[in-house]
Amino acid sequence: MRSSAANTKTNWWKYGVIYQIYPRSFMDSNRDGVGDLQGVIEKMDYLNDGTKNSLGVDALWLSPIFPSPMADFGYDVADYCDIDPLFGNLATFDRLVAEAHRRNMKVILDYVPNHTSDRHPWFIESRSDRKNPRRDWYIWRDAKPDGSLPNNWGSAFGGPAWEWDERTGQYYLHSFLKEQPELNWRNADMKAAMLDVLRFWMERGVDGFRMDVVGMLLKDPQLRDNPISKENPGPAHPNNLYYRQQHIHDQDLDEVHAIIREIRAVLDEYPERCGIGELWYALPRWIRYYGIHGDELQLPFNFRLMNQPWNARAIRQSVDELEEALPEFAWPNYVLSNHDAQRLVSRVGEKQARVAAMLLLTLRGTPTLYYGEELGMENAVIAADQMQDPQGLRLGTDQSRDYGRTPMQWTDGPFSGFSTIKPWLPLTQNYREKNVAAENSDPASMLNLFRTLIHFRKEHPVLQSGSYLPVDGESEDCFVFERIGDDEVYLVALNFSNKETSVHLPDGLTGQILVSTYLDGSLLLIRDDLKLRNDEGVILKVANNTAARQDE
Ligand code: GLC
Repeated sequence: MRSSAANTKTNWWKYGVIYQIYPRSFMDSNRDGVGDLQGVIEKMDYLNDGTKNSLGVDALWLSPIFPSPMADFGYDVADYCDIDPLFGNLATFDRLVAEAHRRNMKVILDYVPNHTSDRHPWFIESRSDRKNPRRDWYIWRDAKPDGSLPNNWGSAFGGPAWEWDERTGQYYLHSFLKEQPELNWRNADMKAAMLDVLRFWMERGVDGFRMDVVGMLLKDPQLRDNPISKENPGPAHPNNLYYRQQHIHDQDLDEVHAIIREIRAVLDEYPERCGIGELWYALPRWIRYYGIHGDELQLPFNFRLMNQPWNARAIRQSVDELEEALPEFAWPNYVLSNHDAQRLVSRVGEKQARVAAMLLLTLRGTPTLYYGEELGMENAVIAADQMQDPQGLRLGTDQSRDYGRTPMQWTDGPFSGFSTIKPWLPLTQNYREKNVAAENSDPASMLNLFRTLIHFRKEHPVLQSGSYLPVDGESEDCFVFERIGDDEVYLVALNFSNKETSVHLPDGLTGQILVSTYLDGSLLLIRDDLKLRNDEGVILKVANNTAARQDE
């Protein structure tokens, strides 16, 4: 059980709510069917206008907006220090930062350090000649003597991770598409150039970076084969080498932490900048990305709740394990969906998505939400010939990430108010009911639930910084915990089932329900037993705090 005083002036990444924008799909201001930065600016009041009418988020993370051939929709960067014309230009970006800051929102960019686009000038030089000074900025290897691939590594998007370059007679490594050649972080000049990219954006006012596959930056120098995974020996798709392997030689190397410390040192050249990492590893390996001395990332993304079966026991266990494992200096965080995942509603159901919203916004740790999650947007139905995502196109339509990347739903009008022409991906089927305009006028909508919870968290600093104490509520369908501050205690009780249930509260506890996920204002006084309706979560203000109860 741990707590730390809320300090809203520093460590903004601990106390705020992060909102992920997938810029292609947020708002199209120039009517080309693809979202853009001007669109984000136009919708900024929706995100935070300083009042409770807006969502009230504190930081915007923009998925990649840099010049790119878009083979992987921006995760193939052709210039790290500019904006793709599809999204705007540096002047638009500067305005976006100013507009965000004016509303007290931070701006987080996506830093893609593991690979560039094959059209990046660095790679064009690198592949031009074996003697080119930039040859070593990427990972080139000869074929084995029998002409075969340098090793058995697979690409996450299917097939081997090596591509033959006819002209210079070597293979280059790509853990994703062949259009995404792997950078060589063992090359000092390349490393210096990539660290300068961080400075370039921080000079423009960027407050933090979400770092793409940051655990993959170093590879085994001997390029040894990965062992085949015992858990997953056969792929769902024949093209799938990657998921059949244990990734002990192509990622999460011990040495990578030295690089991440260097990245952090660059962030620390500027005040209050935050490093967030995309890291999928098991808890003991994952936790190391905070740095043994807290000198790596402030927020290694915690995706554990996305992989759990959706029931009270599994979710509590995941939270408890994290709380247990974190060293004193490490701050927790939680994510329920993102641009690589299914929509939350499609995963857990609409009613449980409300319980999930309360969970996310009451746990100890920074919440990140994904655009449209606040509307209860669901996976879209997308015909095979409309699929865009390279992962789905290579590994099968069930692996497509398009379902959760569809246009934001602003109104029930044509193209949901996102654009005036056909958007790059289809809308979800129920956008006429699930959109900002409709949900604004429904007091119990998902949008109003998110707003209520975000503002409640803001107004009750105990929810931001109080310690976490799980409570045994004697109901296997419920996850119950307290958030404990110096003078105040809140109790959160979440019913993960579709049945009514009763939670036994700690002896002697009395309190009042302040928020229910039903948003129906039942401000009941509670003593001993708490009745929860099906799929209901509640936040209770405890009248007599834990210490006082223990004395009783
Ligand atoms: C990360 C991104 C994903 C992208 C991949 C390659 O996993 O989240 O969208 O395709 O890296 O950059």
